[in-house]
Amino acid sequence: MLEARSAVRTLPTYHPPLGGRDGLRLDFNENTVGCSPRVLARLRELTAEELARYPEREPVEAIVADHLGVEPRELLLTNGVDEAIHLLCETFLEPEDEVLIVVPTFAMYEISAAATGARVIAVPAGENFCFPTSSLLARLTPRTRLIAVANPNNPTGAVAEPADLLEIARRAPQAAILVDEAYLEFYGQTVLPQFRSLPNLFAARTFSKAYGMAGFRVGALAGDAGQMTMVRRVSSPYNVNGVALACLPTALADEKYIQQYVEQVREGRAQLQEEFRSCGIPFWPSEANFVLARFGPLRSAFVQGMRARGILVRDRSRDYGCDGCVRITIGTSEHTGRLLVAFREVLEEIGTKEARAR
Ligand SMILES: Cc1ncc(COP(=O)(O)O)c(C=O)c1O
Repeated sequence: MLEARSAVRTLPTYHPPLGGRDGLRLDFNENTVGCSPRVLARLRELTAEELARYPEREPVEAIVADHLGVEPRELLLTNGVDEAIHLLCETFLEPEDEVLIVVPTFAMYEISAAATGARVIAVPAGENFCFPTSSLLARLTPRTRLIAVANPNNPTGAVAEPADLLEIARRAPQAAILVDEAYLEFYGQTVLPQFRSLPNLFAARTFSKAYGMAGFRVGALAGDAGQMTMVRRVSSPYNVNGVALACLPTALADEKYIQQYVEQVREGRAQLQEEFRSCGIPFWPSEANFVLARFGPLRSAFVQGMRARGILVRDRSRDYGCDGCVRITIGTSEHTGRLLVAFREVLEEIGTKEARAR
């Protein structure tokens, strides 16, 4: 049996619970109704000839760059943000370099960074999961080579002020600062154009969330043109598949579809947060398409009760500081309606059971 590198042998594993996800999926922050119908129509038109070709990323990269207001040489399309994270780690990290992440957060930062042999330093979020700017700055050393921040953060929905992120980029010129804007559409504030004055800053975007295209696997990484030349060297020229490339321009062109979806999510988010407030369930105000709430000892009964009603929600109690917490994705207004009906039923059911047990 071959022995994997020592950095790989000690890697934490990430096993998202993917099996048997039938029902209303409010567990992975996906778009609950999927991509624009225009994207599906484009997909149906694909020919054997188009699929026989190796994918040509550059023409689509130019369209996405234009959409994001950057130059094509400042942008790389990637196989989801997951690959953007991986490529940044491969480009900048040497074994023993230091990587700062703020926990709890998205698991792939730690996995991709640790796989290179770098040391991952987890800085705990502040009270109420607020972004710990000063503790993060206090952990900077000359060996800090990557700081990865999800903004809004997953699983908390909390945000870092763009001014704080820029300050970190200024104070750590030796490090790549990745601002992962996977949930940007639900929040609205970006650091994207700022890499022109801060060449160590990178912004990542995905088409997996608001755009409903997680199965296509496509995202984008933007940064200083010189730095992006290095990142591009590490990437395969065919990292984004031809089906995703064929459909992406259509997805971008249907802006109305995204706008109406985001509006529904924002409304549903306010409704769910109001529901938590009125039931006395602690939650964290979110700027993303999900809300994290603390159900305490009732967490498992809540998740199971929802599943019994055909709704999947995500137990996050193993994340740092998230004991007893569940994360619930928000979808269309119709799906929020279903969620709230099931939510009330389950709370009543588990409340009654608890009262009987007393
Ligand atoms: C913060 C964050 N970044 C990236 C991703 C993954 O994005 P992609 O599907 O583009 O790889 C997720 C998915 O949950 C996420 O929460």
